[in-house]
Amino acid sequence: MTVTDDASSAPAVEVRGLVKRYDKVEALRGIDLTVQRGERFALLGPNGAGKTTLFSILATLRAPTEGGARVLGLDVVAERDAVRRAMGIVFQEPAIEQRLSGRDNLLLMGLFYGLGSAAAKKRAADILGELGLAEAADRPAKNLSGGQRRKLELARALVTDPKILFLDEATLGLDVDARRGFWAQVSALAAAGRTVFFTTHYMEEAEVADRIALIDAGRIVALDTPRALKARIGGGVIRLKTDDDGRARAWMTEQGLTPEPGGDELMLVHADPAGTLPDLLRHLPVKVLRVEIHEPSLEDVFLKLTGRGFGAAPRAAERAGGKVAGRREVNGGASA
Ligand SMILES: Nc1ncnc2c1ncn2[C@@H]1O[C@H](COP(=O)(O)OP(=O)(O)OP(=O)(O)O)[C@@H](O)[C@H]1O
Ligand SMILES: [Mg+2]
Repeated sequence: MTVTDDASSAPAVEVRGLVKRYDKVEALRGIDLTVQRGERFALLGPNGAGKTTLFSILATLRAPTEGGARVLGLDVVAERDAVRRAMGIVFQEPAIEQRLSGRDNLLLMGLFYGLGSAAAKKRAADILGELGLAEAADRPAKNLSGGQRRKLELARALVTDPKILFLDEATLGLDVDARRGFWAQVSALAAAGRTVFFTTHYMEEAEVADRIALIDAGRIVALDTPRALKARIGGGVIRLKTDDDGRARAWMTEQGLTPEPGGDELMLVHADPAGTLPDLLRHLPVKVLRVEIHEPSLEDVFLKLTGRGFGAAPRAAERAGGKVAGRREVNGGASA
């Protein structure tokens, strides 16, 4: 399946000065972002950073408070219906109708988007085949496996044959095999020229993106290729947890080492982590509870920029009275 580009050369997504306030919570605080057509673009950040809010505005489900956004050149407010027809979205929360079969879910979606009954039937059959969901065709969605249900969400997003796909934590909670299967489908869709704009809490999923925006408390704090983001660290990483991190930090600083500020553990960037670690462990005046060495990960970059990991809640001063989202483990990546 290939995607023919339309005449317009507008970027896939253009966001300018976007602010979103929910009552007292400032969920987005001035986002500027351009996603090119055909890009696989990831949005990465901790719980409550504003990822779903941004997607819900791009998908025309919420209106911006200030600023604006265009999807494939179409204004998300003024051209809402056209945007809806042009994009597909897999939500963080289930959107399929659990009592309906896989096929009927897709038929319903096709009819909703104005396909005739015969066209909707053909489209449903084609997508079920393409995504390897034949088994799901005639069973109620609630009786499918978690992986099949997520694929059905993807199938639902594909009914309109969108040029751009928004995936908001589309694989959350799936096991490694099911996630791999899901991303194989997404890769095929991307290879056919679709833009894929996604969020994930799984670092290894973000690594496949062409570019990544790191988002924190409603602001983009860095935007680059995964490789360039990690190169910002400038060395290997030692992570340490001790029985007295304050004392360990002070001691390291005395020794001319410069641990990164903040974080639940000590992070030290060093040109030769393996070479320096034995000496460090021998001389540290505190008990080391845990230690690891790794190549820089995306979470390290985030920690260096913001002073905390993806699992930590935003600092009170940055929340403007907003509720604090719960902690979540960041799976995969070098620190797993
Ligand atoms: N309908 C709402 N009313 C009030 N506040 C909201 C609403 N939706 C989201 N928020 C708040 O806006 C902020 C951003 O939430 P959002 O869901 O966009 O974050 P997220 O990056 O998607 O987080 P997660 O990784 O947990 O999915 C949070 O502080 C959240 O509590
Ligand atoms: Mg979210």
